[in-house]
Amino acid sequence: MLIFSGTSNKKLSETIAFHLRIATSPLEIHIFPDGEKRVRVLEKVVDQDVVVVQSTATPVDQSYMELFFIVDALRRSGAKIITAVIPYLGYQRQDHVFLEGEAVSLDVVARALESCGVNKLMTFDLHSIKIPQVFHIPVIHLSALSLFAGKIKQITHDFPDGILISPDMGGIRRIKLISEMLSNMPFATIVKNRDLQTGKVEASEVRGNLSKTAFVVDDMISSGGTIAAAAYLLKKSGVERIFVFATHPVFSEQAPNVLQKAHVEKVFVADTIEVPREKQFEKLEILSVSKLVAEALR
Ligand code: R5P
Repeated sequence: MLIFSGTSNKKLSETIAFHLRIATSPLEIHIFPDGEKRVRVLEKVVDQDVVVVQSTATPVDQSYMELFFIVDALRRSGAKIITAVIPYLGYQRQDHVFLEGEAVSLDVVARALESCGVNKLMTFDLHSIKIPQVFHIPVIHLSALSLFAGKIKQITHDFPDGILISPDMGGIRRIKLISEMLSNMPFATIVKNRDLQTGKVEASEVRGNLSKTAFVVDDMISSGGTIAAAAYLLKKSGVERIFVFATHPVFSEQAPNVLQKAHVEKVFVADTIEVPREKQFEKLEILSVSKLVAEALR
């Protein structure tokens, strides 16, 4: 097996390769003055199983274009099976038409990946379990929940009265899964309303009983609005300690400031997206999914 890395998450690619006891294979990625890229594979891949690792977070379109070119180069160079490891699958939230006249961006991305030559897709904690149905290739859907469950076990050693919280009704399936991993830890759900035009979030009520310590689990943090609204409501409802767990640190706009200022003790995320130094903040802790990817590739 050979592993190639796009430029979006080199650290993760190298750690995956390390766990597989191989080195990442060389690629030449040249950027022209107008921003166009030229990609060249610098290793023989004829009849080989190859893996390309590329997260498709900000800059989303550039990361996708680079991935398309890498896959095309590998296919033209004779690779047998191309597995795209896209730890964070950009555009997954636009998986259907919400408002009349919209494009289904995820469908466009799926067609592009397949027509470039991707044979298998490996990804993490998709926003909806229906997303694999959009693809005509096998989708290996991994989850960072086991990493989060491990951390929650450590924390509940000191604060045994914990409760899991889904910050919206859409996250109930996820919260049930992690509850099972934690010997059926009790859970509650927040009712969240989002204005589709402005994106503004409001957490209106908690359904279920609360306790002093809450573990909020979500698939991603983008603006931080969902977490801030959930934390505000939980604090107002008497919760004393709030720990946040989210697989994908999309961290758009002012998210790091919003999260640092929110009523939460710690924010745990996975390295499905590389968080640049300038977006890191005191309460943040990053857990690595590299071993999970390496095990799945093996
Ligand atoms: C929404 O349904 C997702 O599960 C996340 O809660 C959401 O995408 C987070 O976005 P933001 O941080 O902008 O509120």
